[in-house]
Amino acid sequence: MDRSGDCGAFCRRTALFCLVIFSRTVLSYDPLPDGYQSLSAKDKLSVLWGRISEQAYDAQNLPTASAPPASMSKLASVDFMSQVFLHIADEMPVGRPKLPHAYGVTCKIQLVISPNTTRKYTGVFRSGGVGVIRLSLGALNNQSFNPGLGLKILIDGKPSENFHCLSPNSQAEPLDRNFFAGPFRSIVPPNPNHSAAALAGQRISQKTVEALPGTDSEKPDNGSVMGLFEQASVTSDGKTVEKPIAPLLISFNPNPALGYDPRDQQDFRAHLMNITEGTLMFKVAVKTYLSDGEVEIGALYTRGPCVASEYQDQKLFFQHTRLPWRKTGNDLPRSDSFSHVMAL
Ligand SMILES: *[C@@H]1O[C@H](CO)[C@@H](O)[C@H](O)[C@H]1NC(C)=O
Ligand SMILES: *[C@@H]1O[C@H](CO)[C@@H](O)[C@H](O)[C@H]1NC(C)=O
Ligand SMILES: *[C@@H]1O[C@H](CO)[C@@H](O)[C@H](O)[C@H]1NC(C)=O
Ligand SMILES: *[C@@H]1O[C@H](CO)[C@@H](O)[C@H](O)[C@H]1NC(C)=O
Ligand SMILES: *[C@@H]1O[C@H](CO)[C@@H](O)[C@H](O)[C@H]1NC(C)=O
Repeated sequence: MDRSGDCGAFCRRTALFCLVIFSRTVLSYDPLPDGYQSLSAKDKLSVLWGRISEQAYDAQNLPTASAPPASMSKLASVDFMSQVFLHIADEMPVGRPKLPHAYGVTCKIQLVISPNTTRKYTGVFRSGGVGVIRLSLGALNNQSFNPGLGLKILIDGKPSENFHCLSPNSQAEPLDRNFFAGPFRSIVPPNPNHSAAALAGQRISQKTVEALPGTDSEKPDNGSVMGLFEQASVTSDGKTVEKPIAPLLISFNPNPALGYDPRDQQDFRAHLMNITEGTLMFKVAVKTYLSDGEVEIGALYTRGPCVASEYQDQKLFFQHTRLPWRKTGNDLPRSDSFSHVMAL
């Protein structure tokens, strides 16, 4: 079964047709309710979770088909890739297939910021919030194991704030197949030990970032860095922060109790689907400069079950942040960038 669907510009024009031809077994989804973005974070979570958990897969019967090469070639297209920065929504553009990180597990979560941290950072780094986390592998095969996460914090009345992090994975033999073996970080420098596919991915990210519309102050620093300024610019209750203070790097450090045998051959999703409500999943730490030590600011807890389903694999969308980190340090941002944030 072709689970990815090969939906290009043709498909975007005739989405229904495409669903029928390419993805007969793929559910079609009603559009999100009118006024979805203006709902409270709690109500948006309830809408999304209804879709995520509907028709959840059974751990014994998980899909594994990979996208056909014709679909994967879209990854070399800057137009295709740039949508991850330009489409501001909790669902994919109609007809867009999810290519890398095609299979994962999504959990309802809460980011809890510790009351006794220095409270130096602003926005979501101070308020925390509720949302979902999707844990996935770059590709599902026996030759690689590249864990990644997408975290979506829902914001009252405004678009969600999202984080994307990867677990730096050495290509050591044998592979470490424990999903929770290492920290997930928002900056993953290119590593010559990465697979050819991962390195090619990084080159494409770099080209995509360079090709984004706008000035340099509206583009990520580079393709290996996920910006954290937007998440520092709004709190979960939807209030705009007047003087955002953002860290440069965020690290999600797994609870060691979730780890398992690195030689385990089972599908990683079977492990993740066993994580129960109320579990401490990650301690959350940040840095202002790469040379700083990490400062722990809080933790991420599950607030419901963890499920695999077609919706969270194919439709749930985590837009990437666009703005660069404030190179001038954690002072006032440059006014040109700040007005862009206000407009988001
Ligand atoms: C507060 O800080 C202390 C010492 O740094 C730490 O042991 C404790 O767990 C923290 N409490 C919370 C609620 O984060
Ligand atoms: C990985 O290997 C196991 C057993 O060695 C096999 O059952 C499974 O189908 C393989 N998975 C993939 C995606 O090739
Ligand atoms: C690459 O792999 C080699 C051998 O496993 C290791 O010694 C080296 O530290 C790795 N390099 C990086 C940058 O991770
Ligand atoms: C991207 O930016 C980060 C942080 O400034 C830096 O450490 C890294 O070397 C840069 N990577 C590239 C490929 O320029
Ligand atoms: C998940 O939990 C079920 C029920 O307790 C158990 O049978 C199964 O082995 C667990 N799966 C993994 C991968 O730990």
